[in-house]
Amino acid sequence: MKKSEEILKSLNLDEKICLLNGVGSWNTFDAGGKIPVLSMSDGPHGLRHQTGEESYANINDSRRATCFPTASAAASSWNVDALRSMGSAIAKEALAEKVHIMLGCGMNIKRSPLCGRNFEYFSEDPYLTGELAAAYVDGMQKEGVGACIKHFALNNQERYRQSSSSNVDERTMREIYLAGFERAVRKAAPASIMCSYNKINGTYASANRKLLTDILRKEWGFDGIVISDWGADIDAAASLKAGLDLAMPDSGGYIGRQIKKSYEEGQLTEAEIDEACLRIIEVALKLCGDSKAESKADGTEANYTVDFAIQHKTAFELACESAVLLKNDGFYPIVPSATEKKKLLVVGQLAEKMHFQGGGSSHINTAEYPSALECLKNDFDVIYIQGYYSSFSKKKNKENKRLLREAVSRLQEVLGQSPDIPVLYFCGLEEAYEGEGFDRADLQIPESHVTLYKEIINKTKNVGLVTFGGSPFDLTFAGQARALLHMYLCGEASGEACFELLTGRKNPSGKLAETWPLTMDCGAPVDALDVNYTEGTLVGYRWYETKKVPVQYEFGYGLSYTTFEYSELQLEKCGSGDGSVGALYKVSITLENTGKTDGYDTVQLYVRNKEEELPSSAKITRSKIELGAFQKVFLQAGEKKRITLELEARAFSVWSSKNKAFCLVGGEYEICAAASVKDIRLIAPLSLEGASLSELCPPDEEEQSGFFTNRELRKKGEFTITDSLGLMAKESAFVRGLLGIISFILVMSSESKSRDDPAVKISLAALRENPLESLISTSGGAISEHFAQLIVKKANS
Ligand code: BGC
Repeated sequence: MKKSEEILKSLNLDEKICLLNGVGSWNTFDAGGKIPVLSMSDGPHGLRHQTGEESYANINDSRRATCFPTASAAASSWNVDALRSMGSAIAKEALAEKVHIMLGCGMNIKRSPLCGRNFEYFSEDPYLTGELAAAYVDGMQKEGVGACIKHFALNNQERYRQSSSSNVDERTMREIYLAGFERAVRKAAPASIMCSYNKINGTYASANRKLLTDILRKEWGFDGIVISDWGADIDAAASLKAGLDLAMPDSGGYIGRQIKKSYEEGQLTEAEIDEACLRIIEVALKLCGDSKAESKADGTEANYTVDFAIQHKTAFELACESAVLLKNDGFYPIVPSATEKKKLLVVGQLAEKMHFQGGGSSHINTAEYPSALECLKNDFDVIYIQGYYSSFSKKKNKENKRLLREAVSRLQEVLGQSPDIPVLYFCGLEEAYEGEGFDRADLQIPESHVTLYKEIINKTKNVGLVTFGGSPFDLTFAGQARALLHMYLCGEASGEACFELLTGRKNPSGKLAETWPLTMDCGAPVDALDVNYTEGTLVGYRWYETKKVPVQYEFGYGLSYTTFEYSELQLEKCGSGDGSVGALYKVSITLENTGKTDGYDTVQLYVRNKEEELPSSAKITRSKIELGAFQKVFLQAGEKKRITLELEARAFSVWSSKNKAFCLVGGEYEICAAASVKDIRLIAPLSLEGASLSELCPPDEEEQSGFFTNRELRKKGEFTITDSLGLMAKESAFVRGLLGIISFILVMSSESKSRDDPAVKISLAALRENPLESLISTSGGAISEHFAQLIVKKANS
């Protein structure tokens, strides 16, 4: 008998039930020492290890850790090896803290640029997402720490994240929203996966058997544990039956009581309970028992110490590869002079108070490292003007007015004396704009940043921008700037990386892993309880390219201080095309660095299908162009290299609802070697044999039929504990009053006392939008089951 089975046999029913729910915020149950305890911590771009219990109020208190670039930055590196190194570096910190499972990486697809958590996600493209995630998981797990990829699945907005239903047809779900997870599971076998908060086609992801069992385990062969997002287990018995193993966090016995009741009523069998327990025990044995975190091979207690200097170097290297040079007329790099310090005018508080990570459960408590301003001061004669106030505070508006007045007169003075002085203007999204639990309202950055920019550009044209933010925003105001370096949220080494890139010690190589749109015309409505994915598979660049919608900066775009030329594109068949994973074609290209600076380029291979539009009566949408492969290559100035990439059969396939499988679509294709989705350098035609699109897929209307709904909101008299306080407040003065009081207490008990603080925003959103039932298990006893029932009763009367 296996050890896991022996342990299971030794547990009584109550112990088994306890094992299915967390202990405290981060651990599993040990059954009196019979099972090793799994300890978990957030992720994803660093270790947020809390030694005490978590509450929304103390989300930012955690042990010191390295803050790596967040996912949207890291993805712009397009460097799988760098992602592997990041995973492995984070694992080292986890080992030192005796953490067995890291809650990351986040890998939801960016359906809308406004999702508040986009900074924690890689891309709008599932192939790129899957490749990067697989590398991260691989790097982490090779060190002996389990990864927990999240949030599975279709959690593409933060608003109403616990009550909205993502309504989507099968083809869209498979091709876009599940494909990244599928790739990571198949390639890297993560130890665990976190199911998301939302519903999918009306059923909570946590209770979705099709998702958690049929697809994840049976089709993809996942053999780890499914963990609920914190408080996502709404119906414990249904979740267990669906394939959820571990409900997190501790619910004070609430989940256990639900499971026991369902068992006693005959709705759950002991065999079903055993199945989940066995999986938890197996993962616990694998990650704890003999793991590096606990003991070394010779049996002595492991003692892992972290060398933060080495960790910081890894974070710095990745940051340098993550920033994206969006525009440059030769203004950058600004090379310091060896003889005397050149004058430089630096404007904008983000130069000194760098925005380098987002708010919420991914917030890392890092040591302080030099800001871009400090670094620049070492090599330049810097004149600094703060210009605006970037933190949240009651005095913000007043401060902004004062700082603007001050900036205008200082600008006049400095430019009067040195009209040719180069100006670096730092701006972008402030901390309050991005975080967990809320979405952005629009694509705008703070007005104060735009107003100040206009003042500067009216006085001088010698301006380069440095921008921050974890997701795209409107940069059309800055059309006259000479150069633009976007830093994303580049982690603790943001300042040093920014400095090295601006001064040319490092050559920018980031490429956008997401489209920067001009407007919100991306077909993806976000603001509803029923979120209907009517745009189907046309997400991100698939939408903009197929619908020919102009954008600010396209997917895959990013400049360098050097230039690259592509030549000699060659295709060679290397696989049969059976099934949809595995290489089908080898594609070789010669890449040459034709400039004077060493640097990286990322060669992107797109598959363009030449299929004529089907008559509108039988319309089957398929993106005109899709990313099929990529490779990041380093070339010294003047160097030439022959590189080979592989295109999988999946690159030519669609999900066929008729065949219930990914199937290759026959027809005429173009294989495009490109520097971005729009910058196609070489094309090779390709004719593929196979079924036609219409043989494989029904028309859109049929594919989507029955999926989209608009639920009637529940009214007075109909509320249950599955409804949110926000919903009840619409109908009940009592709940409105209660919400007001609790919100006030939450704000006042926070450190900042500001409603704009992301750590406060997340609690307010949870209070307003989460089902009451979820608040019972996550409020640490503040909202008991009895109290929740009382609120419902009041709301209904
Ligand atoms: C987040 C997860 C996170 C968990 C634990 C949830 O609110 O959605 O991403 O891992 O909290 O902090």
